[in-house]
Amino acid sequence: MSRIIKIFDTTLRDGEQSPGCSMNLKEKLEMAKQLERLKIDVIEAGFAIASPGDFESVRLVANEIKNATVASLARSTEKDITAAYEALKGAVNPRIHFFLATSDIHMEYKLRMTPEEVLEKAVKMARFARNLCGEVEFSAEDASRTRPEFLYRVLEGVINEGVTVVNVPDTVGYTTPGEHFKFIEAIRHNVPNIDKATISVHVHDDLGLAVANSLAAIQAGAGQVECTVNGIGERAGNAALEEIVMALKTRHDIYQADTNIDTTQIYRSSRLLSKLIGVKVQPNKAIVGENAFAHESGIHQHGMMANKETYEIMTPESIGLKQNKMVLGKHSGKHAFVDKLSSLGYTFTSDEVVELFNQFKVLADKKKDISDKDILALVEQKQLAIPAVYSLDRFIISTGNTISTAATIRLRKNGDLIEGVSLADGPISAGFKAIGVLVDEELTLIDYGVEAVTDGTDAQGEAHVKISDGTHFYHGRGLSTDIIDASLKAFVDAVNQMLYIQETQKEKA
Ligand code: KIV
Ligand code: ZN
Repeated sequence: MSRIIKIFDTTLRDGEQSPGCSMNLKEKLEMAKQLERLKIDVIEAGFAIASPGDFESVRLVANEIKNATVASLARSTEKDITAAYEALKGAVNPRIHFFLATSDIHMEYKLRMTPEEVLEKAVKMARFARNLCGEVEFSAEDASRTRPEFLYRVLEGVINEGVTVVNVPDTVGYTTPGEHFKFIEAIRHNVPNIDKATISVHVHDDLGLAVANSLAAIQAGAGQVECTVNGIGERAGNAALEEIVMALKTRHDIYQADTNIDTTQIYRSSRLLSKLIGVKVQPNKAIVGENAFAHESGIHQHGMMANKETYEIMTPESIGLKQNKMVLGKHSGKHAFVDKLSSLGYTFTSDEVVELFNQFKVLADKKKDISDKDILALVEQKQLAIPAVYSLDRFIISTGNTISTAATIRLRKNGDLIEGVSLADGPISAGFKAIGVLVDEELTLIDYGVEAVTDGTDAQGEAHVKISDGTHFYHGRGLSTDIIDASLKAFVDAVNQMLYIQETQKEKA
């Protein structure tokens, strides 16, 4: 008989805490809304005590998300657990997720506690958390390297206090599929009250085995898996959500397990995350890489034409990668535009529709066919907009391969116009240099890239710029049919992101 495996997404916590993957408040909320469309069971929104920004993002996600459980991580202290509870108060289904390390190495060197002290603390904090919140999850950090008999006692103790989800992380990505299967099976057989809780797994990918280990755990009886979109996370990352979900779906004959996930939202979730954090998905990545459904070789193409199943074990449509033939153009009216927005899952107020429709018309003047990807890019740009100090008013760049490039940039700063000129080797560096002089902030360019949103010579270019103020990274985006325009906008956006985050942190302090 088929079981339902609960999907616990930690993109906004374990994923977001990894270097170069940070998101601002608005971006986290946008991602959470997409996770809700994906029909995630549990969204771990952050680690409330970690910083005022983290607290705020857990609170915001908890207040906005209605169809998923919202969790916050907490260490095993009353202060942490109380902060998690406070941030989650507005959630329809809140879950406190607290953790304590149980392996000898962590207890001795990190916690400096004896096993008996750890057991006592876990039980005490379980009781404390349960008094605050109806749903509590406990994670035995480094569980896969914990002495089994001790782990069983800790799990039994917290379940006795009303914890209903016990997570046994492979924190350092050390285990293997066969070992993990036996590990979960042994927990089922040796923890006397395990029938009162769901066993959850949370596997890191240090040996590239996170998905295989998660699937082995499911076969052994785990009922929840913790994972992230695109597999982002600490070090080598966490188990990739899309790979677990599609493996369960495609090999239902083996796993006999379903999820509640709407798989047609997978591609969009992957793309949105990649855009938010400015980290590209590798082309050959399973399920969501650009090449995952591409068939280059003649033999493959021939087979595919005769019967798709010769080389295709799942369809691109099943992850939402459909070749939508219904394109819009400059003669499309507002009705068709609104229909398209709602077929993509968006509803907007009439003022917002007017604003988007105007942008669509401007784009349609430059580009013959407007595809779903173009419309998504416009929508995402609107949804992620932050209060901007600077905007790009105009630029004039003269360039060539025998002259040095001169860029004249005019910015609007809080309504006033400011203009500057710079010389450099090429149009992008001259433009960036001129903007750098105008904004007069301490910043270093860390990364820059531009890619086409769709195919074709009139495609929109989407530029990404990552800058640093020496403490944090800030990621800006720019969209235009002209790649220089897109690049300059992305640089200005990165500066605005930096000023926005610096300002919100000042307000919180
Ligand atoms: O990897 C890990 O052990 C964790 C826990 C805090 C759940 O992220
Ligand atoms: Zn982790």
